[in-house]
Amino acid sequence: MTAVPIPSQRPRPAAGTFLWGSASAAYQCEGAWNEDGKGLSSWDVFCHSEANDVNPVTGDVAADHYHRYEEDIALIAAGNQNAYRFSIAWSRILPDGTGKVNEKGIDFYNRVIDACLRHGVEPLVTLYHYDLPQTLFERGGWENRTTADAFAAYAEICFRAFGDRVRTWLTINEPGYETFCSYGAGNYPPNVQDLGRRWRAMYHLLLGSAMAIATFRDQGFEGRIGLVSDSYPIETLRDDADYRDAARFADLFQNRCVNDVAVRGEFPAEFIAKLVQDGVDRSYALDGDEALFAAGVVDVLGVNVYDRMLVKPYLEGPTELRNNNTGDGGGPVVKVSGWFQADEDPDTVKNAWGMEIYPRAIYDLLLNLKALYPSTPVIITENGIGYRDVVADGQIDDQYRIDFLAGFVEWMKKAMDEGCDVQGYMVWSSTDVYSWINGYEKRYGLIHVDFDDEQKRTPKASYHWYRELLTKEGVNR
Ligand code: BG6
Repeated sequence: MTAVPIPSQRPRPAAGTFLWGSASAAYQCEGAWNEDGKGLSSWDVFCHSEANDVNPVTGDVAADHYHRYEEDIALIAAGNQNAYRFSIAWSRILPDGTGKVNEKGIDFYNRVIDACLRHGVEPLVTLYHYDLPQTLFERGGWENRTTADAFAAYAEICFRAFGDRVRTWLTINEPGYETFCSYGAGNYPPNVQDLGRRWRAMYHLLLGSAMAIATFRDQGFEGRIGLVSDSYPIETLRDDADYRDAARFADLFQNRCVNDVAVRGEFPAEFIAKLVQDGVDRSYALDGDEALFAAGVVDVLGVNVYDRMLVKPYLEGPTELRNNNTGDGGGPVVKVSGWFQADEDPDTVKNAWGMEIYPRAIYDLLLNLKALYPSTPVIITENGIGYRDVVADGQIDDQYRIDFLAGFVEWMKKAMDEGCDVQGYMVWSSTDVYSWINGYEKRYGLIHVDFDDEQKRTPKASYHWYRELLTKEGVNR
């Protein structure tokens, strides 16, 4: 494998340029968990507690991006990427979630943004990616409506500090998947299995996002703003009325409970009816909220796409959705009674964590999104595959990742040819990172990180492949 040349200073991509990049998230890559005035987050505390019993490791150091961001951004640029999506750790900016600003936190993200711009890399900034300040978490976290207010206030601080340079903002990463893990699987803090609490927390996440977006517009900040949703094409192995019903329920449960709110500013009526039928206490929905949601619709929808979701009709007993966190089938089973059953195609290839290798998923998803939300552009904010990469002679020959990404890119382009307005594509992840409760074995990066040897970086074969692809795409020529 060839050495990677470090490019000289490059101009920032012109507005409207298709963004080809890669992504990370603060807790997963930064480390420096208690440095420079940072407050504790829910993940710092969880990882240091006995509740983290599946893969008891922490993000204390992770990829050490806090100290090595210059090297990482230089590598991203040298890889011909013109964009980098990263998240801000709320507890670095506001150690207690509200109140006094930690200037050293502001300084850090100024340095990251400036490094991006120096290298001609467009920064895509996510304001919240699972790591809630512990002070807010202890007050009920997202189940407490005041967390939504606190988020909007924190977002405004970030708009003011970084808005002169950041043109693409993403409020919240995956209100669906985060709350599913926190309150469905129970494998993310607060580690409970109670879907009623899930719907409450999700409501407040969406409310916080809407309020931040309204602030962004009211205060006249420049640029575009969106939310990041984990979205799936819902598919069935049979086509009859019962299977179609199951697919519709799964679409409400997985996708539309977030996407309709983000794009249309309202929850689907059928979704609310289903919650009422399930006996969910919706006292969290207050008079006047409809106007808040309507005022906070996105300019662009960020979509994390990894897989399709296969479902079949719900018959009886608990629906079992397995969360395989160990790569050998271990992990919690989620009970979702009454909506749909998870199905499985025995003939598709899967990775060790049970994820189907199914590149067509992105095409089906993009067409579904175009049909539902024809005027809203999409950025693919994450796409990638977890694997136990092997280092041989100092190199990582991850052909499986190249095949996976090449398939998704090809299907994405087909969807674009058919009129889907896609404005960017980010590989998950820029470097290897902490894979939440899956620990460090499950790697996604284009760049290998040696977690046992001072976080040394080695670009993988997939990094070089992506670089060539982007040259052909005319990026940074
Ligand atoms: C997305 C998250 O859901 O999937 C990332 O936004 C995450 O933070 C990625 O790392 C892959 O999931 P996992 O659980 O395998 O790390």
